[in-house]
Amino acid sequence: MVTEPTRWFLSLLRPRRAALIGALLLMAAEGATMGGFSYLIRPLFDTVFLGKDTAMVPLVALAVAGVFLLRALAGFGHRVILARQAEGLAADQQNALLTHLMTLDLPFFQSHPPGALIERIRGDAMAFRTLWPPILSALGRDVVALVSLLGVALWVDWRWTLLAVVGVPLLALPVSALQARARRTAIAARTAAGALSTRLDEIFHGLTTIRLTGSEAAEAERYRLATRDYLRAQLRSETASAGIPALIDMVAAAGFAGVMLYGGYQIMAGQKTVGEFMSFFMAMALVFEPLRRLGSISGGWAQARASLERMAGLLHERPTVLPPAEPRALPAPQGGYRLALEDVAFAYGDQPVLRGLSFVAEPGQVTALVGPSGAGKSTVFHLLTRLADPQAGRVTLNGLDLREMDPAALRRAFGVVAQDTALFDETIAANVRLGAGDRSDAALAAALERAQAGEFLARLPQGAETPAGPRGSALSGGQRQRIAIARAILRDAPVLLLDEATSALDSRSEELVAQALAEAGRGRTTLVIAHRLATVRQADKIVVMQAGRVAEQGTHASLLAQGGLYADLHRLQFKE
Ligand SMILES: Nc1ncnc2c1ncn2[C@@H]1O[C@H](COP(=O)(O)OP(=O)(O)OP(=O)(O)O)[C@@H](O)[C@H]1O
Ligand SMILES: [Mg+2]
Repeated sequence: MVTEPTRWFLSLLRPRRAALIGALLLMAAEGATMGGFSYLIRPLFDTVFLGKDTAMVPLVALAVAGVFLLRALAGFGHRVILARQAEGLAADQQNALLTHLMTLDLPFFQSHPPGALIERIRGDAMAFRTLWPPILSALGRDVVALVSLLGVALWVDWRWTLLAVVGVPLLALPVSALQARARRTAIAARTAAGALSTRLDEIFHGLTTIRLTGSEAAEAERYRLATRDYLRAQLRSETASAGIPALIDMVAAAGFAGVMLYGGYQIMAGQKTVGEFMSFFMAMALVFEPLRRLGSISGGWAQARASLERMAGLLHERPTVLPPAEPRALPAPQGGYRLALEDVAFAYGDQPVLRGLSFVAEPGQVTALVGPSGAGKSTVFHLLTRLADPQAGRVTLNGLDLREMDPAALRRAFGVVAQDTALFDETIAANVRLGAGDRSDAALAAALERAQAGEFLARLPQGAETPAGPRGSALSGGQRQRIAIARAILRDAPVLLLDEATSALDSRSEELVAQALAEAGRGRTTLVIAHRLATVRQADKIVVMQAGRVAEQGTHASLLAQGGLYADLHRLQFKE
């Protein structure tokens, strides 16, 4: 039965089939040399040693050397070919997984931490890479070796041969039980490896917090426990796998003893020659090695399947945000877009966040979202950019439901400064150009200037060519924010979404950036989220959110006059 993960594997093998067939032929040649060698033992003893035929000495020596030379060349050839194909296949798997994972959305990444995903992309591809080539070699080389060696043995004496291998069929049941166990435990081991990577990822990202809270020892202990779990699971899987060749050895021991008891007397009685016995003995001694390797195939494949299933499982994950069958083109922006939420409900898992939220952001205007922490403000931005879709209600752009448009095309309409912007370990310039690689150097410099980044860039040794460090760690919080603002400005999109975009800036920079953003917002739709009410006073409309609903909306003056939630928040901030 070919299962889906196996089918995926075979589809990856297909373009490599020419090289793999070549490798299989070389493996078969190597396997056949084993039979050839044991076949030569008989004339070596009977004709050369016992028959004292001196003319045959160099011939037999040459033949043996030839067999080994063939074995060396064939072995080298198929190992090199296979290593190359295995690395290539592992790379194909990783690329396929990453490309697919980037199409998945928020809910998936909530339940799959980065460390575990890294382990599934890298760890499982690497585990699989070391497990499948030996299986192919065993099939190509050891099957031929087995057949040729059994052929020699049968040619010497079929009764001896039967006696030696009669126990092998008895192995079927215990081997399949061990195989099932190897697969089950291998899955547990791979999951435990994922937990280890998750711990490491969290520790290295949270190192400062760990130091400041003095929790180094606790973290080390947590990791130690995780390594122990991994060790146990991995050992269980290896043990089950190792049990299979061990069983074969036991059967081999019994077979050998039987042949010695039966055949030994036949030779002494002169019914068989020493050469025949030696040839048979050599063939049988050599047959159990490929037999063991073929036996460990089932355990090895069980382990490999575990990794393959985990990888193929990821390919089954489907994004929840889907492009429609026939996406509608975005209308031309005229002074920005009119964005509206209509009675929108949204929950992360089963925790409701938005409960019937409705408001409009008019084109060319600045709409501010304010409200207590956890009110659902950032979630609104996720819905506007289709990082998630609402469970009820509609989000519209110029009256069109966002779900009628292609998500990638939609996102091009947005320049976003998120609450926690991701910077990458590239130059500052590359970070600003992200998704806008075609903009001119002059546009880049202008964007940096407007985001008030010019001043600190001038002080950096390589200016905008300075690396930002892993996750932008070489920059201060406020500097990172300015890079993110420059990125949004450079994007030059019809809608600007600013989520606490200036929260980390000093008051003077904040004011300058606010001016620049106000200028940048001209002819666009701007949505601003801010806790500091001073930054939203000028907005054309302020939407006050509370517990996933609009509590009130209006201008700064009208909301103050209303004396509601906004007025309360304002009073708290300005201690009137
Ligand atoms: N990825 C997530 N998974 C689960 N729950 C989430 C997730 N993101 C947000 N939430 C929950 O949704 C609610 C709203 O979050 P959101 O980030 O929209 O709030 P916010 O109004 O932006 O708050 P803040 O002002 O603190 O940024 C919160 O209660 C939060 O616990
Ligand atoms: Mg937020």
